[in-house]
Order: sequence, then C-alpha cells, then structure tokens
Amino acid sequence: MAFLDLRDIGVEFESNGKKLQALSNISFSVDTNQFVSIIGPSGSGKSTIIKILLELLRPSTGTVTIGGKPLGEANPKISVVFQNAALFPWLDVLKNVEIALEPLTKDEKYIKETSEKFIKIVGIDGFEEAYPRELSGGMKQRVSIARALATGPDLLLLDEPFAALDVFTAQALREELLDLWESPTFPPNTILMVTHNVDEAVQMSDKIVVMSHRPSRVLGEVKIELPRPRNTRSEEFYAVVDGVVKLMSSD
Ligand SMILES: Nc1ncnc2c1ncn2[C@@H]1O[C@H](COP(=O)(O)OP(=O)(O)OP(=O)(O)O)[C@@H](O)[C@H]1O
Ligand SMILES: [Mg+2]
Repeated sequence: MAFLDLRDIGVEFESNGKKLQALSNISFSVDTNQFVSIIGPSGSGKSTIIKILLELLRPSTGTVTIGGKPLGEANPKISVVFQNAALFPWLDVLKNVEIALEPLTKDEKYIKETSEKFIKIVGIDGFEEAYPRELSGGMKQRVSIARALATGPDLLLLDEPFAALDVFTAQALREELLDLWESPTFPPNTILMVTHNVDEAVQMSDKIVVMSHRPSRVLGEVKIELPRPRNTRSEEFYAVVDGVVKLMSSD
C-alpha cells in the first residue's frame, strides 16, 4: 500500500476577485522508503503541493491520505527543508535544531543530545554556538537538514533544497542526503522532493512525477531503476534524463 496518496487534488486560488486554477486532478503516490520527486515548470504548483501536505492549505477538491488515513487524522511527523534555510536569526545553531524537538518532549537532555548528534551527522559540529549570519549558504542548509531529521520524520519534504547553492555544495549535499536516506538506522525513510532540475531528480529519485504548466496536471511518471550510487555521466543516466525531458516538453 502507498504511504502517501494524493487523489484528484485540485486547487483554485482567488485573488482580486479573479479565479486561478493552480492544480487540477493531481494524483500520485509515494511508497514507504521511496524517494519521489515532483518536477515541473515555475508556477506549476509544486510548492502548493508541499503546502497541502503541511496542512497550510486545503485543496479545493480531492483527498490526501497517509497510511490509508486522511491527512488530518493520520497525524504524521512531517519535516520540510525549503530552498532558503528558514533559520531563526536570533538563535544559535544548536538552538535552531533544538527548537524542532521542543514540542515533542520535555526531556532536555534528549533534546540537546539528539540535536548535537544531527549537527554532527550533517557535518557542522563545532558551529553549535554560531549564529546563522556567521554561516555560509551551504552551512545554513545543513542546519535546516539537521533540524528536519532530528525529529525522526515519517515523511521528509524537500522544496528545491539545493537550488540556492553553488554546484559543488549542492552536489556534496545531495550525496550526503542520499547516504543518510540509504542508511538503515536513520530517518527519514520516505522523501518527497520538489525540483526543476532534471539531473538532480534522476540522480536522487526512485520515481519522478512530471507536472505540466498551469493549470497543472500530471503529464506522467518515470520510474528510475538505475543502481545506486548513480553514475551521472553514464549513457543509461542520460537516457533517463532524456525520457523526463521529452515528457516535460510534451506539454
Ligand atoms: N496564496 C495564493 N494566492 C493566489 N495564488 C497563489 C497562491 N499561492 C500560489 N499561487 C499561484 O499558484 C501557482 C502555483 O504556485 P507554486 O508556488 O505552487 O508554484 P511552483 O511550482 O512552486 O513554482 P516555482 O518553481 O517558481 O517555485 C502560481 O501561479 C502562483 O501564482
Ligand atoms: Mg515553488
């Protein structure tokens, strides 16, 4: 059974009395332990899907279920990493991670130790007392990832998490995140990533959901069975990239 299932999701916005159909009939699912990417042009409603899953926005039509239960009842632990690290500027690195754990437990020792553990996992130990303004973009994104992982989420949502980073930092972080995802002892198991980078989607995902221009629908899905870690320069890799690009341009 699918872990996450979106059925016939439609979203209509109204601004200044004008109606705008952002999403229409979006259906796809994500299995437990699967890494799924949504790819689509700017304005196709990718972030809108993330907002629905975070329950910041109610779709006009359709249903979202997690583990077979409607989203509101399922009460899953969901973490998110955005394009620009949403850190609290007045808190140091340790506190920026701890703050995610505070609603879950009163055990201060656990909160501190878990935060320190994930700060180390993402490679920014030694910077626990630094403030966001003292960190590079890549380091800030590492803090966001540590914070997202520390709560042990059932589902990790990524909204263009590498888009604001230089190519080297982005590539290093992608590989590190994949290593974490593949390691059996670590959350998260199930990841949904939004991107418009085809190579990134093919490198990371088990499945890519390709969206159209607005009003957005699903143009198709591409399953990727290339062995991991993936050789992003192989012919097989380019063949999959080609397939995704063809599907995107069929819109
Ligand atoms: N709260 C809102 N009110 C009105 N329109 C909105 C609202 N939020 C999003 N939209 C519109 O819905 C469409 C989809 O927006 P969304 O941010 O989901 O796109 P996206 O695929 O994430 O784009 P990008 O790749 O640029 O981040 C856009 O046309 C946007 O203008
Ligand atoms: Mg977006």
